[in-house]
Amino acid sequence: MKPDLRLKPQKLNTRARTVGPNLNYWYPVGWSDKLKPGQVQNQILWEQEIAVYRGMNGDVYAIENTCLHKGVALSKGEVQGNELVCPYHGWRFNGQGQCVGIPYLGDDEPLPKKCLHRYPCRERYNLIWVFPGDPEQSETMDIPDVPEYDDPNWLIVEIPAHFKVHFSMVNENPLDVFHGHLHRDLQGWYNPVLVSMENDEDSIRAEYEVTFRNSWLPKILGLTQSKEQEVKKIIGVGYHYPHCRNNMPGKSNYYFMRQPQGPMSTQSYSLLCLKIRLPVWLVGLIRKPLPRVLWKFLIKPFLDQDIDVMESEQANFHRNPDRRQVEINPVIAAAQLLTVKKYDQYINSQKQRSDDSKGQFQG
Ligand code: FES
Ligand SMILES: [Fe+2]
Repeated sequence: MKPDLRLKPQKLNTRARTVGPNLNYWYPVGWSDKLKPGQVQNQILWEQEIAVYRGMNGDVYAIENTCLHKGVALSKGEVQGNELVCPYHGWRFNGQGQCVGIPYLGDDEPLPKKCLHRYPCRERYNLIWVFPGDPEQSETMDIPDVPEYDDPNWLIVEIPAHFKVHFSMVNENPLDVFHGHLHRDLQGWYNPVLVSMENDEDSIRAEYEVTFRNSWLPKILGLTQSKEQEVKKIIGVGYHYPHCRNNMPGKSNYYFMRQPQGPMSTQSYSLLCLKIRLPVWLVGLIRKPLPRVLWKFLIKPFLDQDIDVMESEQANFHRNPDRRQVEINPVIAAAQLLTVKKYDQYINSQKQRSDDSKGQFQG
C-alpha cells in the first residue's frame, strides 16, 4: 500500500480542524489519584465547564460548574460531606446537581426545583471519565478497553500532555507513522511503509512496517538482538473514535485518551503499556520509579518534538484556515473523514432530540 498521490488538496482538512467532538462518548477529565476526598476541580470539555469533585464518601461527582443562583463557578467553593457549596452565598448542591440547601432560607421554605446539569461519571485506569452528551446514552457506550492495565506482566506508564491545538491534529499524530521523520534521532527506526488499512463507521486500523536499526532503543524493547543490524517490525495504529492507540505486537500498546477542551486546546491522558521480560517480583519493585525515568529520558523528548510541530501547524491554520493542505496518507484522510462524520452524527442526533421534544410539547 502506497501513499495516495491522487488525494488532492481538499476541504476535508479544514473541516476536520473546525468541527467539535461527538459528545456521546466517554472522555477523561483527570487522573483519579489527583482528586482526593474533599477536593474539587474545574474541568473543561469542549467549552463546557464541569465541577468535578470527590465527596468524603470517596465517590466522584461531575456537575455543571455554574451556580444556579448567580452563575459563580462552583469549583471555587468547597466540598462539605458529599455536597459542593458555592463560595458566594453558600448554596449547596449534591452530586445530582440538585440544590439541597440555602443557608438564609427558612427550614419550611421550598428550595429551587431547577437542577444543574449532572454528568455521568466513572473511574477506570486511574482516570476520571465523564459523559458530556445525552446522559441516557452513557449506559450503552463503553470506556476504551485497556486489558493490560491489571496484568502484572505489563508496565503501565501514565503520560499526561497538553497541546494548544485542535483534537483532530492531536489524534492524527500517532496514526501518521510517517512523522517518524521528526523523531529520527530518537527512535531508532526508519523507512516506514504503510502495508494495510481497514475502516468501518467507528474506527480505522492500519499497519506500517518499519525498519529498526540495531541501536539502544530497539534493544531495550527486545526488538533486535545484538548480532542483528536491522530488523523489520509492524507498528499497528488505530482510531477508535474518539480515542487512538498504537502498538508493536507483544511489546507495547499505547492508548491515547483525549479531553478536547476547545478549538485550540486538547488535554491528553495516555497509557503506555510495556511488556517487560523481567520476573514479576522485579517488575513490582520498578513499577513506581521506572515510569519516571522513562518519562524523563524517553517520552518527554518525543512529546516535546510533537508539541512543537503541532502547535506550529495549529498557528498556521489559525492564520489561514482556508488554505488547502495536501494530504497523501490515506490513513489521515480516513481519520479526518471519521472526525467530521462523527461530529455530523452528533449534530444530527441533537437536532432529532430537539425535534422530538418539540413534538412532545406540541402533542
Ligand atoms: S452565586 Fe452561588 S450561592 Fe450565590
Ligand atoms: Fe510523535
